[in-house]
Amino acid sequence: MVSVTKVAVIGLGTMGAGIVEVFAKGEFAVYAVDGTTELAERGRGFVTKSLDRAVSKGKLTEADRHATLDRITFTAELTDLVDADLVIEAVPERMEIKHSIFTALDDIVRPDAILASNTSSLSLTEIAAGTRHPERVVGMHFFNPAPVLKLVEVIRTVLVDESVADTVRELALQLGKKPVVVGDRAGFVANALLIPYLSRAIALYETGKVSRVDLDNAGRVGIGLPMGPLTLCDLVGLDVVHEVCKVMYDATKRPSDASPSLLRQLVLAGRLGRKTGQGFYDYSADAGVDEDAGTDAMTTSAAVVGEGELATQLVDAFAGAGVTVTAVDGPAAGTADLAGTPLVVVVGGGADGGFDTEGDEVDDWLATVTSTVDARTVVLTADEVSEFVLAGVLGEDIAILPLRLHQETKGGQVAEVGVILGTTPDQVAMVRATLAAAGFVPIAGPARPGVVVDALLFQHLNDAVAMVDAGYATPQDVDTAMTAGCGYPRGLFAILDELGADVVADGVVEQSVLDPSVVPSPLLLEHAARDLPFLS
Ligand code: 3HC
Repeated sequence: MVSVTKVAVIGLGTMGAGIVEVFAKGEFAVYAVDGTTELAERGRGFVTKSLDRAVSKGKLTEADRHATLDRITFTAELTDLVDADLVIEAVPERMEIKHSIFTALDDIVRPDAILASNTSSLSLTEIAAGTRHPERVVGMHFFNPAPVLKLVEVIRTVLVDESVADTVRELALQLGKKPVVVGDRAGFVANALLIPYLSRAIALYETGKVSRVDLDNAGRVGIGLPMGPLTLCDLVGLDVVHEVCKVMYDATKRPSDASPSLLRQLVLAGRLGRKTGQGFYDYSADAGVDEDAGTDAMTTSAAVVGEGELATQLVDAFAGAGVTVTAVDGPAAGTADLAGTPLVVVVGGGADGGFDTEGDEVDDWLATVTSTVDARTVVLTADEVSEFVLAGVLGEDIAILPLRLHQETKGGQVAEVGVILGTTPDQVAMVRATLAAAGFVPIAGPARPGVVVDALLFQHLNDAVAMVDAGYATPQDVDTAMTAGCGYPRGLFAILDELGADVVADGVVEQSVLDPSVVPSPLLLEHAARDLPFLS
């Protein structure tokens, strides 16, 4: 087994420069290679900037910064790599470019040197099969930002010498990374789960029914992920997301894996995200930020009809925002004078925050409320009754919108409102502004199963179960991949077990009724039926 002391990284874009930094900080001698002297110098700039940032944050000493840079040789000459023990290719995702580099390396490096690719999406087997020694070709897939995120996917092909994969795995551990060893399948583990989640968010944005800020808040605050999906697309690069979508779709033919039309358009337009200064957001210095409606649109008076913790929480939150709140016990709904109240929230009175009151009883309250208010009033209903609203039984004249308060996460607590046909923009703005003033992070999306947060989360979880069902990865592998590779605070299976397979399965089944491209995983349904967790 070759002992690795000299490493080469080819391609000094965002990922390549990050990988150079990781190895140089790990005290390896590194050749940092790009196609021209200018590109190699640009790569030096990326690495230096990142190290300078670490120094300014007090995470690296000036002396270590110098020592790290001294270990790196920036070059435009592949022929310099004669004594490299490991070469990692991180050039753009085009098979012909990869082939030409690996072919050239065959004539340059020692026969026992390991050749690795950081490809996000292309077939490692195809890359390996085009070389003279396919047994030494392996995937070593880092995650952006490489200096921060711990995951390294080590991709084995059917041609690889097991000792090569073992060496790369050991090396990843030596660098302080978390390796997950997997076979050569489109998207591997992390991208195969992350990219469809991102592309669903893009597709939802493209409908015009959800704003980009709401989509990002759904991921960051609602689910509790480090970034929202559109911000993450801009970080990863829209071209990369598009390429992975194409490869995934080629492999699966699942409609949900296809690259959304808006993504294709942005890539064609050269808006690739942060690296070009524009993607879903504008990163130029003079770009404005998305403003919410502000507090101007909020209501000054509201009523909360119901009982239980949720009702109390809402009354307190509205009062704290300066709203004059009328609190009405559910059974007293009939005697309350709510005419002219701009916002009425009807809440069930169960012990766990109002979600388990008998549906019929809440329906009665709701019917009473809607008969006493007029068309200017917006009525919000919490949870179970939401389904009632979604079924379209009530509310021909009155806007009755489902409201869902999500679990609080690091970013805050999402109050999500499903918008039904006929709701006016002013009504939505009033609800959003009032919820925001009351301390919630408001999200407005179409009043369909899952609205935005659960529509994204449940399908993401369903995909993870399908991957396990296909025998490609274990629930533990998936959770390592998503926590170490995408910074998730908890793995997808940890989230799923907490929510309960039955809740998620019901949600996915509901979504599948409206969208035939959503296919509930049989394994999820089995776990739901037997009430079995995935992680023991
Ligand atoms: N290089 C080095 N360090 C960086 C960095 C970079 N490019 N970006 C951020 N950091 C460091 C910061 O210095 C900071 O360190 P500190 O906490 O010790 O001071 C730390 O990371 C956190 O950064 P910030 O405080 O600026 O911001 P956040 O807390 O929001 O973290 C983030 C930024 C690490 C990018 C985090 O938001 C995150 O993990 N996001 C998810 C990213 C993700 O999912 N990546 C995977 C994409 S898929 C992929 O890459 C595969 C490919 O094939 C497509």
